[in-house]
Parts: sequence; C-alpha cells; structure tokens
Amino acid sequence: MWKPPERIRHPLPAPAWPTAAAAAVARWFQPVEVGPVRLAERTWVPAMVPWRATEEGFVTPEVLAWYERFARGEPGAIVVEATGIRDVPSGPLLRAGDDRFLPGLSELVSTVRRASGGRTRVFLQIIDFLSIRRRPEREVFLTRFLKISDSLKEKLSVKGDVEARGVLLTLSEGDLRAVLSEREWHDLQFGARELVTDLHVPSVRSLPEVLPPLFASAALRAERAGFDGVELHFAHAYTMASFLSPLNTRDDGYGGARENRVRVGHLMPVGPNSVGVMAFSRKPSIRRSASRRPGSHRHRRSRRTGRAGRSMANPHWASHRWCRALLRSPGLHR
Ligand SMILES: Cc1cc2nc3c(=O)[nH]c(=O)nc-3n(C[C@H](O)[C@H](O)[C@H](O)COP(=O)(O)O)c2cc1C
Repeated sequence: MWKPPERIRHPLPAPAWPTAAAAAVARWFQPVEVGPVRLAERTWVPAMVPWRATEEGFVTPEVLAWYERFARGEPGAIVVEATGIRDVPSGPLLRAGDDRFLPGLSELVSTVRRASGGRTRVFLQIIDFLSIRRRPEREVFLTRFLKISDSLKEKLSVKGDVEARGVLLTLSEGDLRAVLSEREWHDLQFGARELVTDLHVPSVRSLPEVLPPLFASAALRAERAGFDGVELHFAHAYTMASFLSPLNTRDDGYGGARENRVRVGHLMPVGPNSVGVMAFSRKPSIRRSASRRPGSHRHRRSRRTGRAGRSMANPHWASHRWCRALLRSPGLHR
C-alpha cells in the first residue's frame, strides 16, 4: 500500500456533541412531506443488496433480520434493496415479478413497521438489468462463446469456423486483440453483457414498450405488499441508466439526443398519488460497471474524488456519490 512520505497527524477537533435538546430541533430530525407520504425525520437508509435472498428471489429470515436491525433505529425511510421486476432467475436478488413473491415482501414490510413502531416509511427499489455473463476463460470464450464472422475468417485467412477457432487459440494477446472487434475484446476481458444499443436483439429493441408495464406491475405489487412507494433504479449502468447514457446511440427514437434518452423514463407510470423516488448516477454509462468494479483503479479514484456522482438534488438526502431525486416532492426542497 502506498504511504505518504511525511505522515501528518492532525489534531482531532474537540468533540461538540449536540445535546438531546439541540438534536431534537435539528433539521435532520424534523418531519418532511414527500408527495403524499410524511417522513417522521430526514434520515434515509439507501438501497443496499446484502445478497440474503434465496436463489429464487424470495425473502429469507436473514433478509428480515437485516431490515429489522435498520428499522430498530427508526430512520425516516428505508429503501429495500434492488429488486428485480422480471420473472427470471437472477441469483440471490429479491424479485417482484410475480405474485408468489408477495407473502415474503408483505412480511418484510410488517417487520419494518413492527421494529420501528410504525415510524419508518419503507420503499422498494425496483430494477431491470440485461443479461450479464461472468468473465469467461480465454479458451472457453474462443471455442464456445465467440461468434465467428466472415470478416474474422478473412482476417485470419481461414475458411471454416473450426479452423478459425484453432488459429485464435494460438494467438498472442496482442495479435488476438488486433483481430477481435472492440466489443469482442471487451466481452473477453469483462464478460459479455447485453447493451441497450443491441437493436438486432428483439428483446432489446422492444425494451421501450416492455419496461413501463413491467415497472408498473412490480410497483403495484409493492403497493399490495404494503410498501409506501418504490424507488426506480436508474443507476450503475443497469438498463435505465444505460438509456440515459450519452453512449446510448439507439436510432429508434430512444437514443442519441438527450430528449430521446430520457424518453423511456418519461413513460414510467407516475400517478398523482405515487411517491416516485429515483436513484441515478451523475454520469450514467452503458459499460462503466466493468471498470468500476470494487477495488478497480477507477472505482478507488471515484471514491477518492467523489466525482462519479455528486449530489444533484438535495445534499441532505443524497450521498456524495449517488443522487436520489424525489419526483413530485416539493417538500424535499424546503
Ligand atoms: C453492499 C452495497 C450494496 C448496494 N446495493 C445497492 C442497491 O441495491 N441499489 C442502489 O441503488 N445502490 C446500492 N448501493 C449503493 C448505496 O445505496 C449507496 O448509494 C452508496 O453506497 C453510496 O453511498 P456512500 O458513498 O455513502 O457509500 C449499494 C452499496 C453497498 C455498499
């Protein structure tokens, strides 16, 4: 680990803890109206996935225990971790894509209500993500995953696919990089991930029609489970952040110009009684997640500088890296 040449010990500032009376009148602990919901105070536990759901996406006793501990502190709001809106396997991530998830989600809400004496409001963060593969072994990638195109065969001066794979396996890193496309090289380095710009994939092309009803169904389910609202996940290079990204070059009216990139977001169902909370990165990106995986250089740098996502809405609520803008909540800006 790098150590600075001179180690400066700064004196600790004299502690000036507020008295109970001073804390009681602090703005942080004052109520606030968020659309139709009133928070008892402005403390806010952001969404954090603890990977405690079952492989099928159900709430477990460990999930309940995790939120119970937060709720005992009676924060103004808890946002329950990113929860998938589709009914597809997604590992130990909570899911809200079907009614069979309702009993567990309802129990989660009851647990928070009970542990906080009914004081804490509880939101469900709902998320969509496209297919992501783990980084493959070089040999597996070259022999199984890589599609052999005619242009690649031409570059390798071979006729058949099998022959092409054979040659690829013998290439040095530099030579391999020279013959693969940027996308193929990226997939080999970081794992293949579907992009919102993959318009040749029908399920990606239809996202603007498919996503709003999927988000709406998950939000309705959250309401039936007793949540006070939902937080739409628009951050961290997942589907919605990828739509917002300047790298979104879709040519179907949902990419390119900024008005087009925000269009799917505008299609999200936000009714007069809804408390919409949105989590998004300051610089949404399609592909950034690979280079920002925890521990990577860019990840450490963004933690140091805080540049990845300074607060755009309200510094009382937003962490220094990610921003949560409350939709239709003038109370926030008081
Ligand atoms: C373990 C862990 C899990 C997280 N899971 C989510 C998540 O599900 N959804 C989300 O929007 N942010 C998630 N985050 C980001 C946090 O909500 C928070 O915005 C982030 O930690 C920034 O706050 P900080 O700079 O104070 O750490 C997670 C963070 C951590 C540490």
